Amino acid sequence: MPRPDTPLIIALDYPDLDQALTMADRLDPAHCRVKVGKELFTRSGPQILEALHARGFEVFLDLKFHDIPNTVAGAVEAAADHGVWMVNVHAGGGRRMMEAARERLEKRRLPTHLIAVTVLTSMAREDLAEIGVDDDPLSQVERLAALSQRSGMDGVVCSAQEATALRALCGDTFLKVTPGIRPSASKGDDQRRTLTPARALAAGSTHLVIGRPVTQASNPMAALADIEQEIGR
Ligand code: C5P
Repeated sequence: MPRPDTPLIIALDYPDLDQALTMADRLDPAHCRVKVGKELFTRSGPQILEALHARGFEVFLDLKFHDIPNTVAGAVEAAADHGVWMVNVHAGGGRRMMEAARERLEKRRLPTHLIAVTVLTSMAREDLAEIGVDDDPLSQVERLAALSQRSGMDGVVCSAQEATALRALCGDTFLKVTPGIRPSASKGDDQRRTLTPARALAAGSTHLVIGRPVTQASNPMAALADIEQEIGR
């Protein structure tokens, strides 16, 4: 299966393997990648990765590792050994943690993309103050994105609102993987500060994580095709 030339990553936010695969079977791996998160992976284990790979999907394993350097390096190596396309860690784990993860992939020449989460979008200024960070969220995002880049990360997870600042700070090729996307036709549900796919790409996002607008559509591939049209693909 050739690598899909697409910025679209569909979030398979399901509680078990059967439901996730039922959705995957309605998607085409030539048109999107898929994201597996903590709930699905914790319930189904690596079996979900095997099943998705067998169907031709490239997988972003969104487990946001955060631990001492040796432990995170081992977890990232394990993810890469499962053949995932992308895996992530928390930038808050620090430079040595990120460097250890990068070095482990380099040593084994594993091609998995390694990105970092900067500040969770659920964290407001008051939440940062409570954990001792007396700064506004965007400044902290910029600080951690720059640290991630210096520590060998391929990119970060960021909101589309942050993507423009991060493009200026870290350049075009540094990956900016952006959730909170809502196609112009869809409803907002619990996401705040959403952007359309076209606007997010224009803002500097390199990849778009999209869940419910596709997975809860009556025809997911038609919803995906509408998004492709919206971004001129
Ligand atoms: O359904 P929806 O498009 O909102 O799904 C977005 C996906 O991106 C979910 O898997 C969600 O956990 C994830 N995500 C997010 N906001 C962040 C980080 C991750 O919505 N800041």
